[in-house]
This record gives sequence, C-alpha cells and structure tokens, in this order.
Amino acid sequence: MVARRVSEIEISGIRRMFEGAPPGAINLGLGEPDFEPPAVVVRALVSAVHDKMNHYGPSAGLTALREKIADRYRDIDPEVSRENVIVTAGGSEGLMACALALYDPGDEVLVPDPGFVLYAPHARLAGATPVPYSLAEEQRFLPDLDELERRVTPRTRAIVVNSPSNPTGAVFPKSTVEGLVAFADRHNLTIVSDEVYDEMVYEGHHISFAGKGDRAIVVNSFSKMFAMTGWRLGFLVAPRSMAVEINKVHYHVVACPSTPAQFAVLAGLAHLEEATAAMRTEFHARRELVIRALNRMPGLRCVPPAGAFYAFPRFSWPVTAYAVAGDLLKRGLIATPGDAFGRLGARHLRLSFAASRPNLKRGLAILGKYATDMPGQRKRS
Ligand SMILES: Cc1ncc(COP(=O)(O)O)c(C=O)c1O
Repeated sequence: MVARRVSEIEISGIRRMFEGAPPGAINLGLGEPDFEPPAVVVRALVSAVHDKMNHYGPSAGLTALREKIADRYRDIDPEVSRENVIVTAGGSEGLMACALALYDPGDEVLVPDPGFVLYAPHARLAGATPVPYSLAEEQRFLPDLDELERRVTPRTRAIVVNSPSNPTGAVFPKSTVEGLVAFADRHNLTIVSDEVYDEMVYEGHHISFAGKGDRAIVVNSFSKMFAMTGWRLGFLVAPRSMAVEINKVHYHVVACPSTPAQFAVLAGLAHLEEATAAMRTEFHARRELVIRALNRMPGLRCVPPAGAFYAFPRFSWPVTAYAVAGDLLKRGLIATPGDAFGRLGARHLRLSFAASRPNLKRGLAILGKYATDMPGQRKRS
C-alpha cells in the first residue's frame, strides 16, 4: 500500500504522451531546446570531472555559484546576497522544496489554470489543496485580480505564478506584477514565482518578482537557459528566513546539487548573454513559422506566445484534447493535450517549438493533414 497522497497523483499528460509514443515519432510534446549546452559549459564540466570535483558539496550549493546567481538579481534587488540563494536539482526540485517548506495540511494554494503540471500535485503532496485561478485566452492569459479576490480564503497560504508561462506563453506586464504583489500583501500570501523561461521573451520584457516585498520566492533553472535539461540544475532566490527553512527540505531530498554541473554553469554564467541570444533568436524565428502555419489550419487558432517556447492553439473540433493528441500520436506526432494543464486547457494542444526545424515542419505537416481530414473542414489558403 502506498500513501493516499501519492496514489491520488496522476502521471502528467506530458509524460504519458511521451512514454506511449511509437518509435520515430516527432516530439513536439516535451519542452526541450534542441540546442546543446554552450561549449564553455561543456568544457568546464569535463574539467571539473577530471580535476576530481566529483564529491558532495555544500547543501545550498557552491558559494561562488550562489554569489554569481545573486549578482544576476542585484540590479532589481540591491539587498540580495548568496544567503538568499539555493542551488537545486532543477526547477522541479525547487518547486517541490518550496511546497514542502511552505504549505501545511489544510492550506489552500492558488495555482494557474492552465498552468504547468507540477504546481497542483506539489500542493497535494504537501497535504494542501490547490485552488485553480483562470488564465483566460480572452484576457491574454493574464490573471484576473477580481477573480483572485473571489478565490482567496483565510486558508490561502500562497499563490503560484509563472511568467513567461508554460503552456500559454503569456508574459506579465508591469501592471500585472504590481497587482499580484499588492494582492499577496493584502492577504499575507507567499508568491512562488516560476521564472524558468525568463531568458526566452520575444515581445515585451520579463519582470521578475525578485525583491518584490519580502514575500516572493523566485524559482529558476539552468535547464532551458543552457539547454541542459538532463543535467538537473536550477536555483531559487528567497527571503533569507525562508531560504533557511527551504534548505532543510532541499537537504533531505538531494543532500546537495551535482558538484561538477555547478562548476560548469559557474563558467557559463560569465557568458550568459551570448549563450542565450542564439537560442532566443532561433526560437523567435520558429515561433513565426509555427504560428503562421497553425493559423492557416482549419479548426485551429493560435495567439502568438510573448515568451517561453510553446504554441498553445485552440481547436474547434468536437472532440477532447486527449482524443486529438491520441490520434496525432498514431500518426507519429507527440503533442500535449491542453487539459493536462487544467480545465481551461481543454480545447487546446501544446506544441513545443524548441524542437528542430525539420521536426517542426514534419510535425506541422502531420497536424495540418489531421486538421484537413477532420469532417467538415476545408483548407485555408
Ligand atoms: C514552467 C516550468 N517550470 C519548471 C520546469 C522544471 O524544469 P527543470 O526541473 O528541468 O528545471 C519546467 C519544465 O518544463 C517548466 O516548464
């Protein structure tokens, strides 16, 4: 017998599609840059391994790396120091450590709908209740502060926010960030801000929640920043008193983050801008290609994502997103059904455009053929 809190958790819709895929299927389901980590990062990893940096390190991460991460936030928060930083095993572990450190059984946690697949299960695993708040397409997938006021109760402990967003691609403008901070202040909530796509913005600017009052925790990751999803390294920046508590959970889960990988990203952070610029430019171009193709397909409409690297088209076919994704899988395309991200994702698909151009073209061809094969559809020119 396993604990009920675990047996009640489902495997995410992203993973289910990925793991059920036939060999050779085009994968637009997982959020993985098709780039390799920058050469300077790879070289530093190899050197660290050769130089015998293969052992346990400090639980919160290497001091030099924590300092370098703090530097990245100093212009928006002059007070930030390495004491605020914990190096984690990816954003996933950072988010889980926050959940276990912050939520008590019976607490409520506001989570975005549609939103990334970890937030609600993490709340449940900590014994709390996730309370979805809407990100409606008609509102440019931005939170509605009036709705948040209706959802908050005396039990609400925290709100999870995600900009740039997976799956919608929305990037919060300054007014939304300020509105959310004021909302959290009014109700004494902690803000858990997932900013793992902060380097991938095509329209507008990323505005971090770092340093916004004393109640925001920023979760970030090197996975997408350095195209090293398999290395499992990320970080969080928290008010000092919270960082001490989160670090206890972090220690009990991972002991410490990977030592050689930390030396590698430490070298990479000195070249962050050039490392991310090439990827950003390429993803921007792919975004145009994908959005244009999707908006030509009968029955599909796609709002251009301002950030991250997902298209989140809405379909008008009278079938569920799981049925569409299942049919596409049989035709050799892995796409994620929108309802994997919550109730409001129900009539959407999520397609990653971080996949290579040939794979994007092949994947879009499969989707385009499916769209024209749907009864009653005609191709638009
Ligand atoms: C919004 C968001 N947050 C967190 C993560 C976790 O990433 P990682 O654990 O690789 O850092 C992902 C991965 O896709 C994501 O999309």
